[in-house]
Amino acid sequence: MTNPSFSSTPTDQYSRFLAACRREPVDAIPVWYMRQAGRYQPEYRKIREKYSLLEICRTPELCVQISQLPVTQLGVDAAILFSDIMVPLSAMGVELDIQENVGPLIAHPLRSDADVQTLHAFETVESLPYVLDSIRQLKHSLSVPLIGFAGGPYTLASYLIEGQASRSYLHTKQMMWNRPDLWQTLMDKLGAAISHFLRAQIQAGAAAVQIFDSWVGSLSPEDFQTYVLPTMKRVFHLLQDTGVPIIYFGVNTGDLLPAFAESGASVIGVDWRTPLQEARRRIGPNQAIQGNLDPAMLLAPWSVLSSRAEDIVTQGVQQPGFIFNLGHGVVHHHPPVSVDVLRRLTQHIHEYSHQCLVERGNLV
Ligand code: CP3
Repeated sequence: MTNPSFSSTPTDQYSRFLAACRREPVDAIPVWYMRQAGRYQPEYRKIREKYSLLEICRTPELCVQISQLPVTQLGVDAAILFSDIMVPLSAMGVELDIQENVGPLIAHPLRSDADVQTLHAFETVESLPYVLDSIRQLKHSLSVPLIGFAGGPYTLASYLIEGQASRSYLHTKQMMWNRPDLWQTLMDKLGAAISHFLRAQIQAGAAAVQIFDSWVGSLSPEDFQTYVLPTMKRVFHLLQDTGVPIIYFGVNTGDLLPAFAESGASVIGVDWRTPLQEARRRIGPNQAIQGNLDPAMLLAPWSVLSSRAEDIVTQGVQQPGFIFNLGHGVVHHHPPVSVDVLRRLTQHIHEYSHQCLVERGNLV
């Protein structure tokens, strides 16, 4: 039996995304996608012909327009601010660029004491006014909650130390093991910046925040516990009084999930390498879980994609607190992922999960 008031399209009054973050009952599983705004969208590509990524991030009018696109096009339950994890670093004295198909490039990688000293604290309001202006405008124009975000300390440190994307993180790990004092200085600076930046985003109107610590899965559980977890705990503790849900996400973090659960985050992001039920076992019952479709599946035939997505939902609805997402961002591919596929997937998850929840008798 279908609830006659159920609508796949999110409404103004009630947020199934925020309810799921808080592990409250929902009418359907909420859906959003990491990198839901980007190059797979023709409208985005058109804007990128005229402006660089960083120019878009610094222009509220463009940033607002792009952040809204997936909400109207796909019917997702949350918007994410269009920005990049590198944006706040430019306000800490780091000279950087983001190059197409390469990623972030740092002009002077941080390797020595003197290099780390050049990284200064930032005053959000003065140095990043455009981020907060975009959030304020989005708060008024969106029909769904806005997710603010920051990069995680390990991931930001890896770009700062390596100077670019890396496969092995050798310079990063060298600093961590050879100079734990210098590493901690860097973690302290990044942890303080992340918590200030996220608090400012929350004050401007972000209803939830996500920390993208994408590359932290390159650490062993022991090294994560020793060199990163204390900083994460401090960041989450500092933000606790805001009362907004905080999502902690990384790629390849299956073996780190028990430690992620200890961090104090309210929602844990999981990638596709760990089955959802196993992720739940490792995390325990007290946090919501977000994930975990392999983004490459967006290029698979609908029958393959939809049956995998249903399997994820079937596992996800077993406990309260599940948000459907990809295990990493929407993939960049030629030909691009289809907007229609993402729209169809969103609607399918809403309808299929609503049915599962009706059958389980634990609807909102
Ligand atoms: O999710 C969203 O829709 C919000 C926007 C967003 C972007 N970057 C826009 C972007 C978010 C949340 C990010 C976070 C980000 N940036 C992460 C963490 C998430 C992840 O993907 O692991 C990381 C590691 C970065 C650093 C970064 N920026 C990389 C590796 C790249 C890709 C380089 C490339 O060309 O493939 C970027 C560029 C970037 N950031 C793009 C977008 C839409 C591509 C932009 C373009 O050239 O138009």
